[in-house]
Amino acid sequence: MDIKGKTAIITGAASGIGLATAREFIKHDIEAVALVDRSPAVAEHAAALNAEAGRTVTLPFHGDTTQDAFRHEVFGRLREQHGVVNILVPAAGITRDALAVRVNREKGVAQIYPVETFREVLEVNLVAPVYWALELVAQMAEHRFARGLKRWSPDEGVQGVIVFIGSVSSQGNKGQIAYASTKVGLEGAASTLMIEGIFHGVRTAVIHPGFTDTPMVRALGEDYIQKHVLPATQIGRLIRPEEIAEAICFLCRNSAVSGQLWADAGWHPLPT
Ligand SMILES: NC(=O)c1ccc[n+]([C@@H]2O[C@H](COP(=O)([O-])OP(=O)(O)OC[C@H]3O[C@@H](n4cnc5c(N)ncnc54)[C@H](O)[C@@H]3O)[C@@H](O)[C@H]2O)c1
Repeated sequence: MDIKGKTAIITGAASGIGLATAREFIKHDIEAVALVDRSPAVAEHAAALNAEAGRTVTLPFHGDTTQDAFRHEVFGRLREQHGVVNILVPAAGITRDALAVRVNREKGVAQIYPVETFREVLEVNLVAPVYWALELVAQMAEHRFARGLKRWSPDEGVQGVIVFIGSVSSQGNKGQIAYASTKVGLEGAASTLMIEGIFHGVRTAVIHPGFTDTPMVRALGEDYIQKHVLPATQIGRLIRPEEIAEAICFLCRNSAVSGQLWADAGWHPLPT
């Protein structure tokens, strides 16, 4: 699929992987890309990317991806201004790491990971990306129906692509009971959408980044990165966000690639 002339939505676009992906799409002459984030910095990033590109290519949207009304607004505005949305990268994500069960040695009491926190991570990392993806497929389905088109046929060319952001953590990572569960959940959603979405001309893929140099990973602290991350990464350094962005772009452009791509720099969980 040629990215040139297409329209995309990236959530979590004010930072890390989302922001790098926006820059990569612009390199490939995308027509318009909506930058969605709950950080107000999204407006500054959009302005900077527009200035770099010398045209109005990004549209900033400040809001929370878990809110249905906000999601409808983003898809609606993009459709009005640029037509049906072709590409979705729902990259907004949070971690909220803590042991699944922690024993307080003084009191002899075991504390379980708070269920409210688990639900919060679930809403942001799993429910929201899946519903943003369903919105893209729904918009595409309506657009096709309005033109009298039914089952998609290969001679039409691929109309849309969704790239979910999984993680190496889905293979198991200490302290990530909630995060890892959501990333595995995306794999189930993707395998279902791979089958259902293509009826409407939409492909679905998942990328599993290893530890990437973004604020999410830097928040782990330098000591943790040196002791627990780099020794488990074959290339001996954090992955650059641009490397993941390039791989996301590849997943969008090459229609032969579906399923899952592990961009993990040879990550292997260390024995605890
Ligand atoms: N950095 C890594 O090593 C790594 C590895 C594997 C997967 N991932 C995944 O890649 C994605 C991007 O991560 P990153 O490392 O760039 O993180 P990041 O923290 O740099 O960026 C995440 C962005 O998402 C935004 N966000 C969070 N919750 C939101 C919400 N409810 N609504 C709107 N915006 C929201 C934040 O404001 C932030 O700008 C995440 O899904 C993450 O789980 C990251």
